[in-house]
Amino acid sequence: MDKIKVAVAGVGNWGMNHLRVYSELREADLMAAVDLDNEKLKRVKREYGVETYRDVDKMIKKEKVEAISVVTPTKTHAELALKVLRRNVNVLIEKPFATSIKEALEIVKEAKKRNLTLAVGHIMRYNSGVVKVKELLKQGVVGKPLVLSFKRLGMMFTRVSDIGVVKDLAIHDIDLIRFLLNKDPIEVFAYTGRVKHVNEDYSTALLKVNGNISCFLENNWLSPSKVRELIVTGEEGIIHFDDAWKQLKIEKYSSEGRREIYPNLKWNEPLKEELKHFLRCIREKMEPKASGKDGLIALYIAEKMLESAKTGKVIKLNYRFPKL
Ligand SMILES: NC(=O)c1ccc[n+]([C@@H]2O[C@H](COP(=O)([O-])OP(=O)(O)OC[C@H]3O[C@@H](n4cnc5c(N)ncnc54)[C@H](O)[C@@H]3O)[C@@H](O)[C@H]2O)c1
Repeated sequence: MDKIKVAVAGVGNWGMNHLRVYSELREADLMAAVDLDNEKLKRVKREYGVETYRDVDKMIKKEKVEAISVVTPTKTHAELALKVLRRNVNVLIEKPFATSIKEALEIVKEAKKRNLTLAVGHIMRYNSGVVKVKELLKQGVVGKPLVLSFKRLGMMFTRVSDIGVVKDLAIHDIDLIRFLLNKDPIEVFAYTGRVKHVNEDYSTALLKVNGNISCFLENNWLSPSKVRELIVTGEEGIIHFDDAWKQLKIEKYSSEGRREIYPNLKWNEPLKEELKHFLRCIREKMEPKASGKDGLIALYIAEKMLESAKTGKVIKLNYRFPKL
């Protein structure tokens, strides 16, 4: 198999994981890293022996890479992604996709015009537990889903100043609603608050999905322990997925009493699945499992969640974007 020449822009906390995973993938040839921080670049050079740059344009000209992960702060995603696409290079942009719908639309249009692969880092779609929950729902194991309840809590020590917890954490669960149900929510009502961070650091939201399904989201950067939970209540039982403890359980009640079922599951590293899929989409010209359009829609719903919290109103979701 021909290896795809890749690079990572932004080698902070999460970007270092992209670097490591690309270095482990046989489908990737890790060529370079880009960052503004010279100390981080020195470390990358030492650990991975790749070329390092402060400017993405210069890197592309020199290294002739075919794919780049953009793993920088959200406010820089659009500028970097557009530079990458305008040099005809495929791109995976971390979530949240961009800071505004306008930026997100511009990126989606540019990728489409140039027939390039555009993926968004909605990593939960590549999580083995989530993939299994989707399969169980399709098989109707707990009957028709009625309520999806998400908790994604944890301490955030760094002061992320460009976004709040809604665009950082709740956006994962917003995307999961769409992924698991194959449907877009139709309305949202939310509360947010701020204790220790520049932007909102806790939020709750209720989203309605056609077919009488409701979804409850609780997210914060304040909880001392990491909580990652999803409970799907169906007409015939519940599915409980605990991603922090890597446990998936089905509970059902019948005339013989309560039953617990633990489905067999092979846990793969989600980022490895995501980056492998990104490279496959480039090779086979496939639409990514989490596409630019998915990134755009998740961002739109997150913005409406913030609007609801600000106005105290239920917001209808209409998805009226210019033709993509
Ligand atoms: N999918 C996930 O589960 C997941 C997890 C963590 C972070 N993220 C996302 O990854 C992105 C980065 O998060 P992080 O926690 O690694 O942040 P970070 O602050 O640790 O790292 C960002 C890096 O980008 C560099 N940078 C800033 N501007 C740049 C520019 N113009 N060009 C090149 N480099 C630049 C910084 O110097 C820094 O090294 C964010 O969008 C975040 O939401 C996603």
